[in-house]
Amino acid sequence: MREELRPVSWTGKAIRLIDQTALPGEMTYLEISDIDSLVEAIQRLSVRGAPALGAVGALGVAVAMQQREREGWDVEAFSSALDRLRNARPTARNLAWGVDAVAGMVELGEAAVIGEALKLIAEDEANNHEIGRLGADWILSRVRNRPVNVLTHCNTGALATTGWGTALGIVRELHRRGALGVVYVDETRPLLQGARLTAFELGREGIPHFVQADAAAASTILSGKADVAIIGADRIAANGDTANKIGSLAVALAAREGQIPFVVAAPESTVDVATPSGDFIPIEYRSEAEVLSWAGVPVAPEGSRGYNPAFDVTPGRLVSALVTEERVLEVATGEVPAPAQEVTAP
Ligand code: MRU
Repeated sequence: MREELRPVSWTGKAIRLIDQTALPGEMTYLEISDIDSLVEAIQRLSVRGAPALGAVGALGVAVAMQQREREGWDVEAFSSALDRLRNARPTARNLAWGVDAVAGMVELGEAAVIGEALKLIAEDEANNHEIGRLGADWILSRVRNRPVNVLTHCNTGALATTGWGTALGIVRELHRRGALGVVYVDETRPLLQGARLTAFELGREGIPHFVQADAAAASTILSGKADVAIIGADRIAANGDTANKIGSLAVALAAREGQIPFVVAAPESTVDVATPSGDFIPIEYRSEAEVLSWAGVPVAPEGSRGYNPAFDVTPGRLVSALVTEERVLEVATGEVPAPAQEVTAP
């Protein structure tokens, strides 16, 4: 097994990020020591994925404290910097959660804030391993076919967290147990987190996978090739409605029709009990250019408008199981049926 990917770390003076926009081609790092650069890195998705955003939210408070010291900020400038950080991406609950988890310690000084942020980061990775174990147990108790073939959407691995991964952590755990067949990886248009990042992580681990167009997901499920769909979450409302990367809802609908379990894996920190339902989850809309072009090359005629919601909301009734580090909650009422026939990998 290769060394674990660490998308977020602390150098002592700055946040060190793997620049995920350059993957899979290049492994480059960014060192960030001011809030404007951090907000920019978050918005351009150099760092992304809800738990990784929680980590930079917490470390970002330390960055703001250092900048306050260097530039002589007053109280207002400091609190506006924290607000900009909190709101840099509105759907991912963990970003504001990470800021708020350490903001109360600012009075105690920089060392206390950094210590708490590093503790949260270590806990996140441990939580992911627990999610992996609980999720794999649940899936192996519900899915009859062996080996288990999985469909996943977006990137929920080490790169999206602080190590190991949530939904991809379950995939890794199934692989570790010798129970995994093949993973169908939705490419995840428009920014290709599946093709660029999930396939990169699975390739490093030697886990068999196919990258497929997002539009293939429904037929992959309905033709019996996937036994379970596993995704992550950016925010889970109190009723189980789950915001995740655009396209997740289509996977959930296909999973229901195909009678395979649709599993959401996320740490408890992504569960937002103050938000009663998906109707109240803020959805991030991104630039039209992301859907109208790829790598600077237009893919639509000049004059077309782009519609680019970054996330959608899957109703809780379509979620067979929500797996956190503490529990497996069978959100949808009724039993999750086992697939009807034996499935072989193509
Ligand atoms: O826009 P992104 O790449 O930040 O979207 C990420 C996702 O939708 C993930 O599935 C989610 O944050 C969970 S990551 C463990």
